[in-house]
Amino acid sequence: MKLWEGRFDAPTAKNADLFNDSLPFDRQLWAVDIMASIAHATMLGNCGIISESESRAICTALNDISADIESGKLEIRGAEDIHSFVENELVSRIGDTGKKLHTARSRNDQVATDFRLYVRAAFDSLTESLVWLVQSLTDCAKYALKYIMPGYTHLRKAQPMCAGHFFAAYAEMFMRDLDRVASSRARANVMPLGSGALAGTSYPIDRDITCRLLEFDRPCENSLDGVSDRDFVAEYLFDASLIMAHLSRLCEDIILYSTEEFGYFEISDAYSTGSSIMPQKKNPDIPELMRGKTGRVYGHLMALLTTIKAIPLAYNKDLQEDKEGFFDAERQVINSLNIMAEMLPAIELKTKKMSKAAESEFCCATDVADYLAKKGVPFRTAHGVTGKIVRWCIENRRTLQNMTAEEYASFDEHFAPDITEVVKARACADARTSYGGASEACVKENIKSLKKRLAKYSK
Ligand code: ARG
Repeated sequence: MKLWEGRFDAPTAKNADLFNDSLPFDRQLWAVDIMASIAHATMLGNCGIISESESRAICTALNDISADIESGKLEIRGAEDIHSFVENELVSRIGDTGKKLHTARSRNDQVATDFRLYVRAAFDSLTESLVWLVQSLTDCAKYALKYIMPGYTHLRKAQPMCAGHFFAAYAEMFMRDLDRVASSRARANVMPLGSGALAGTSYPIDRDITCRLLEFDRPCENSLDGVSDRDFVAEYLFDASLIMAHLSRLCEDIILYSTEEFGYFEISDAYSTGSSIMPQKKNPDIPELMRGKTGRVYGHLMALLTTIKAIPLAYNKDLQEDKEGFFDAERQVINSLNIMAEMLPAIELKTKKMSKAAESEFCCATDVADYLAKKGVPFRTAHGVTGKIVRWCIENRRTLQNMTAEEYASFDEHFAPDITEVVKARACADARTSYGGASEACVKENIKSLKKRLAKYSK
């Protein structure tokens, strides 16, 4: 039965129903729909809009429906949307009393409330998965403290760093995501229920009661905005998109570093796949697929932003399009976060190759220039002298590490015998002790701070 068929003479066309119905996807909202209806019915009873016994009968029946859906006894089907389904079921169980549930309510404030409850819980699961990932990255950073690797700019070897710095950098990104999700959740936690179709209601409702029962921070202040606001969905999708961007960058680094050409990481067999034709292959399909899913999540954000951009106030059916993309984005981002958190500790660090790479290709050249500058040579001049040394090394097939102190001194009188120690990769990394720098000591501090900030979000 349609909730609105009284005004109509003829039934809707079959294809119109198929096009219009949202039950195939909004069925996921059944639990929050029932939760919000119980709060609404309780409030109606408390305010004397329906009798206390009617309110109790409605709540009991709604709880029974919930239990029956949960156990699989009641199948969700045969209605336009989840709101109609629950209400039809209620009426079929308790008759006319059930028909009073929708007093002082519209599906417009109902769906806005249901979806907020759902998205609010989704923010909480996002937090949980992010905590796990930051934890996992922090553990990797701690493990990698003892090792050296080259840092890159322009994907060219740049300067040696403590390998923990790499993992802690990603932990910082997801830490920002945690903060962002917390502030989005706080903005989302405002209750549209009581906004009615668009203009509120003439019944003496008490929105503070429903607000308390549903654990919202406050009722929305404008009913017109309340029924049409989907900013909370857009914020979730943006947060999810940025998380995917961070995951995708991490995937890209993992894929690169696990190539034969780099050879710093070995992804565990448990997270790799083979080729149907090339027997030698071990492919990084999991990080590749995750990188690929990023586009899909961005797409859902763009779709929603486009959907809401020209909607006149207040509710319009376009808003039904807020759900499918969200559900998919939620699934993709949670799965991606969880699999990344479990895959990371299974990555083997090829520490010999990493530290060798940190000394190759003149990774320590900045430290040669800094050595001279610290002895009073203007940095620009020191940079020029070091450039000449690098050129000489290339022409003579030498490295900064196998040059003798005398050879250094032939380029500039300020070079003393200790220069041969200064150009070791580990010494270069450990010299970077500025706050937030790549030395082991700094990375240790970074990890300590990450753990402290993470504790705020861990249960
Ligand atoms: N299925 C609709 C949605 O998801 C529920 C609200 C319908 N309200 C209306 N006036 N048609 O947005």
